[in-house]
Amino acid sequence: MRILFLLVTMYLLSACVTTMQNSDVKVKAKGSTSIVANSLQQSIKHKIVIAHRGASGYLPEHSLAAKAMAYAMRADYIEQDVVMTKDDKLIVLHDHFLDRVTNVMSVFPHRYRVIDGKKRWFAIDFTLAEIKSLRMTEGFTIDAKTQHKKNIYPERFPLFKSHFTVSTLQEEIELIQGLNHSLGKRNGYQVGLYVEIKAPWFHRHEGKDISTATLQVLKKYGYTKKSDKIFVQCFDADELQRINDHLMPQLGINLKLVQLIAMTDWNETYTYKNNVAIPYQYDWMFNTGAMKKIAQYADGIGPWKPMIVSDNSTIDHLNITNMVKDAHAAGLVVHPYTFRKDPGRIPKYAKDFNQLLNIFLYQVGVDGIFTDYTDIAVKLINKHEK
Ligand code: G3P
Ligand code: CA
Repeated sequence: MRILFLLVTMYLLSACVTTMQNSDVKVKAKGSTSIVANSLQQSIKHKIVIAHRGASGYLPEHSLAAKAMAYAMRADYIEQDVVMTKDDKLIVLHDHFLDRVTNVMSVFPHRYRVIDGKKRWFAIDFTLAEIKSLRMTEGFTIDAKTQHKKNIYPERFPLFKSHFTVSTLQEEIELIQGLNHSLGKRNGYQVGLYVEIKAPWFHRHEGKDISTATLQVLKKYGYTKKSDKIFVQCFDADELQRINDHLMPQLGINLKLVQLIAMTDWNETYTYKNNVAIPYQYDWMFNTGAMKKIAQYADGIGPWKPMIVSDNSTIDHLNITNMVKDAHAAGLVVHPYTFRKDPGRIPKYAKDFNQLLNIFLYQVGVDGIFTDYTDIAVKLINKHEK
C-alpha cells in the first residue's frame, strides 16, 4: 500500500479541478430516438480522459497501483475490464485468460485448455483463491526459440518486479470510491468507473451470466442512474441491447452504455448456433444509418482509432471518416481507443503523441479518449481548456 500512497500524493496536490456535468436522463425505450444521448452529449463540454487499464504506461495494467496512479494523475474515468472466475467472482483482467499477465503457467502448469493449437489458462477454470495466489505483471510474450518472456512494451514496467496481484471488481471500486472520499471530496471532484463486460458470449456458453453479476455489483456500490459517474461498455451488441432492454429495467437501474466497435476479422465476439461459435459481423456498424441504430440502445461508441482517422492519412492530409459526425448527429458520445506513446504506436500522420491527441480531440472533435498515458492527455486537455 506504500506505493499507492506515494503515487497519489505525488500527483494530487498539483492537480487543478475540472468538473464534468451530466444531466440525469430517462431510460431509452426499445426503438426510440436518442433524446437521452443528445442530452448527454450536449452536457459534456469537458473532454474526458479514460485511464485505459489504469496508468498502464507506467505500472502493470489493471494493478491497483496503476489505478491509484491514474487517479492521482486526474483521469476522469478509470477503466475496468471484467471477467469471471470458476466460483463466480468478478475480477479485473483484460483477457479471459491469465497467461499474458501472471505466472499461472508455472504455478498451475497442467490447468490449460488448447485453443487453436495454443495452450491458454482460462480465468474461468480457476477459483478466486487460486487466482489470488498468482503474481501479476506487465503484459509479456514468450520467445518461441528461447522460451524467454519479454515485455510487449519494452519501455514499460519490468516483468515480475515488485509484487502485484489480480484484484476483484469490488476491491477496485472500493479503491476508487475510497480515493473519491479521501481526496476527491476535499478537492471537489470524483473519478468515475468505465466498466467493460468482457466476452459475455463466452461466459454464457460456460453457464455464467457476467452481465447480470456485474450490474448487481455496480448497483450495490451505488451506481444506478445516468447521471452517476460511470459508463458500461461492451463489444457485444446483442448483449448491450439485452442490458438496455431487459437487465437494467429488471434491476431498476439505468446507466450510460457504450458500444465498442471491432473489425470483424479480429473475431472479438462470437454467437453460438447449435453449439458452434460463429464470429459476430461488425460490418453493419460502418454503414450509413448505423449510428442511429446504436443510439437506440446506447449512449456512446468506443471505436478503434483508424475507424475515425484512416491509417492512410498523411501529415498534410487527414482522411477522416464520417463516424464521429454521424455519431454526434445521432446523439452519441465518441470515446476512441487506444492512445499509446510507445515506440511504433504513433500513426505516421502525427509527428508525436501530443499531435495525435490534438488531432482526435480538437480537429476531429471526439468527446474523450482511452489512453495508457493519462498524465499527458490530462495536461494537454487542461492547457486547451484554460
Ligand atoms: O474498452 C475499450 C478499450 O479498452 C479497447 O478494448 O481490447 O483494450 O479492452 P481493449
Ligand atoms: Ca477495455
